[in-house]
Amino acid sequence: MQTKPFLQAAKGQRGSRTPIWFLRQAGRYLPEYRAVRANYDFVQMCQAPDAAAEVTLQPLRRYDLDAAIIFSDILIPCIGMGQVLTFDKGHGPRLNSPIRTSADLKNLRVPDADKEFAYVGEAISKVCAKLGPQQTMIGFAGAPLTVATYMIEGEGSRDHVSLKKMLYTEPHTFSSLLSIITDTTVDYLKMQCCAGAEALMIFDTWAGSLTPDEYAKHVVPQLVKLFTSLKTLSVPLIYFPGQGTERYPELKPLFSLIDALHVDWRVDLGRAIASLKQLGFAGTVQGNLEPTCFLGSKEIVQAKANAILRHGQSAKSHIFNVGHGLIPEIPPESLTWAIDAVRAFDRTRE
Ligand code: CP3
Repeated sequence: MQTKPFLQAAKGQRGSRTPIWFLRQAGRYLPEYRAVRANYDFVQMCQAPDAAAEVTLQPLRRYDLDAAIIFSDILIPCIGMGQVLTFDKGHGPRLNSPIRTSADLKNLRVPDADKEFAYVGEAISKVCAKLGPQQTMIGFAGAPLTVATYMIEGEGSRDHVSLKKMLYTEPHTFSSLLSIITDTTVDYLKMQCCAGAEALMIFDTWAGSLTPDEYAKHVVPQLVKLFTSLKTLSVPLIYFPGQGTERYPELKPLFSLIDALHVDWRVDLGRAIASLKQLGFAGTVQGNLEPTCFLGSKEIVQAKANAILRHGQSAKSHIFNVGHGLIPEIPPESLTWAIDAVRAFDRTRE
């Protein structure tokens, strides 16, 4: 019988406790994170198992959380595929030699995940050794489209012009690139599970950047391949379609493969659950507090948290979270207001 609240909820069971964790819970809003980060370049920190394990555990020391997510980044696998990843201060990620044509694909490979990303596995094992018996270890990766966006553009971008150009002028190159990323991601996540990850989350930040028909034609088949392969691992699978509420109808082929959907903060959770149910998704939902609300008062945070908790009751099961990553500007103590609201809500249901 599964007793970890996160795993129970992810599998669609309603236990006595609503699990809670936060996207980007290890991050710059925490002074103890900034202290470790001061000694490392960001990529080096992802590659240093002791440092990565330490910052992964920091939020669990401070708060009553139900899950840890390994400290890493969705672009780490690009290093193994053959690109150089850097994070410049104030700029975000950069990948050298962006992939623009079929000739560029020749520089890419599907890496040996066990060998090339051993540092991620080592960090996961170190965290697992320190988790409480009720806490869950979450592994993650970026989704093929979102990782491809950075590999093609070479950096963050608003309009994804180079990606669209490839999609419309070299659709086969685009498909081949997605396929290389999918194969890499399957191996990368299998390695994370072998190291101790008990659930997997796939971040598709740019799911809403293609038209629904292009998303259905090029992206969904890769996601089907990805989740079908991951299903053999028998761990809960969570998908996050960023700004993707508009994509719910296209996600139908995934509904029998995933256990939970992460819901963006831009949509009312009750409405999202209703439309998902109508489309045939009867699984768990995760989300969807607006992360900047932590800049407001305790009353604001708790009112919003309570509204989300009430909506969460209409889903098969609910994992409380923010709808998108925590930002550096929030005061660390404000997270306790949301956690207290979740625990108080559960007491009213006893
Ligand atoms: O949630 C967690 O605590 C786990 C770790 C995690 C990070 N990035 C650490 C990180 C996860 C799950 C991610 C995912 C990620 N990374 C996504 C998908 C989710 C999303 O936010 O939409 C994307 C698009 C990236 C790429 C990325 N990484 C960008 C665009 C940036 C720069 C913006 C920023 O916040 O600085 C990063 C950097 C990054 N990834 C930081 C952290 C803690 C900050 C780096 C620092 O310490 O300077």
